[in-house]
Amino acid sequence: MFGAYIIIGLAACALLKTLYYRIFCSPLTSLPGPKFTILSSSWLIYKEFTGQRRKWLHQLHLQYGPIVRISPDEVSFASWDALKEIYITGGTGYDKTSFYDLFSNLGTRNMFSTLDRSTHADLKKRFVDKYNKSSIMQPNLVSVFRDRAEEFMAKCTENDSADIYIYLHCYSMDCGSHLLFYPYGIHSLTDPSDMPKVVELTFHDTLKSHYLQYYFPELMALKARIFKRTDRQYGPVALHVLNLVRTGTETDSSTVLHKLKTHKDSLDELYIASECMDHLVAAIDTTGDTLCILIHHLSLPTSYPIQQKLHEELVKSSPGDFDDLPYLDAVIKEALRCFGPSPMSLPRRVPSGGRTISGVFIPENTIVSCQSYTLHRLDTEVFPNPDEFLPERWLQSEGSTARNQLLFAFGAGGRMCIGKHLAMAEMKILLQEVYTSYRTKIAKNMTASMELVDQAIVARPAGQKCLITFEKYSN
Ligand code: HEM
Repeated sequence: MFGAYIIIGLAACALLKTLYYRIFCSPLTSLPGPKFTILSSSWLIYKEFTGQRRKWLHQLHLQYGPIVRISPDEVSFASWDALKEIYITGGTGYDKTSFYDLFSNLGTRNMFSTLDRSTHADLKKRFVDKYNKSSIMQPNLVSVFRDRAEEFMAKCTENDSADIYIYLHCYSMDCGSHLLFYPYGIHSLTDPSDMPKVVELTFHDTLKSHYLQYYFPELMALKARIFKRTDRQYGPVALHVLNLVRTGTETDSSTVLHKLKTHKDSLDELYIASECMDHLVAAIDTTGDTLCILIHHLSLPTSYPIQQKLHEELVKSSPGDFDDLPYLDAVIKEALRCFGPSPMSLPRRVPSGGRTISGVFIPENTIVSCQSYTLHRLDTEVFPNPDEFLPERWLQSEGSTARNQLLFAFGAGGRMCIGKHLAMAEMKILLQEVYTSYRTKIAKNMTASMELVDQAIVARPAGQKCLITFEKYSN
């Protein structure tokens, strides 16, 4: 009994010491933000578990400005100088936080889930050339994307209306898996037996499971020990990838998998599978959701003039010109600004010794981040009428540097999205295919919500369904 009193007393002293430090000594005490956030992270954690973190942070930035303390050891920033310091300093910015442990696959780290910058740089060298713009723009690859876009259109015009949500995920799966595994890519638009792979990656829910793993790793480790996983329990995507990696299957020399399998260091099979799975997962929702929300937005009656302008540019161009069309480019950039699929914070850890960010000293190990949702809206001199979809803003030369600096949809610095050129090519080719020949309208029976809801690191339309009608131009 006496022992219990001692333990409780010691715990109370430790708590008081922590609270004393937080209230009177922590450099974060003087930062803008709700007072209670200096005492505890519990409100932030509640917002995370309920999928409200992004919107809560945005409200705080509107109230307090570009620097906001959101917990005793976490600060959110929303300005170009902070973005540059956190993500671009020294090429790759600060190291990632352990939040990214959540994105390892098959129990094995990949480039995305690697925390420190030097290991990351070594991993990236292994395959980065496959994602360079010059590789993505190779005519044979472009013609594959074009074939997939035609298959998408064929699906969408089979009936009066089509669920573009699922077909766009199929499209990005089929394009991405070609680059990874040709000739063993996925053909979900034409082969129904591949559909379970798309369904698995499209409808999985990661919010609560990821945050449980992040905040209660011991509990989840216990659960994993009790329900031991074996290969037989992996989903169709993991099995497809593991099969390609483990068997002697030869993929084409142009593929990412071939590059990894023939690496001079004989890479571990589970690492190769984890890396390829990550590229698939990263490629499907992001590109599919951006296209889906964009086409939905263009199909609203208020957007018909934008659709018309896009159509006029496209009919004047030749198919090979898809990368050089100013209005198409502006429409995609505005889509990424307004409803990019990665609108949440990308957390980083302040290096040893602390750093000055946006003029304030932040101690080492503090978690710092920017979220694109706020960067794309807060500064109304850079983005006037931030909640309106206005592609024309990207065509103005005045202010273009500031606009492009704050466009954070793909991240920034050495850890920005490796698939950016792939995603841009896929999106441009698909929109060219659709709007050269068709008008799109919201289908009469479309009732699903298109509001963006947050997962652990990406957001997606709440209803996960989007019914659109395609009407062919009569010329
Ligand atoms: C519209 C489409 C896409 C968007 C908006 C997007 C967004 C992002 C963002 C914001 C990051 C940085 C994450 C961070 O710093 O924490 C990222 C990283 C990454 N993305 Fe994408 N992405 C898209 C498409 C793709 C595609 C098609 C691939 C296919 C390979 C891909 C693969 C990756 C990988 C591997 C990383 C990790 C990069 C690294 O750690 O160096 N993404 N993406």
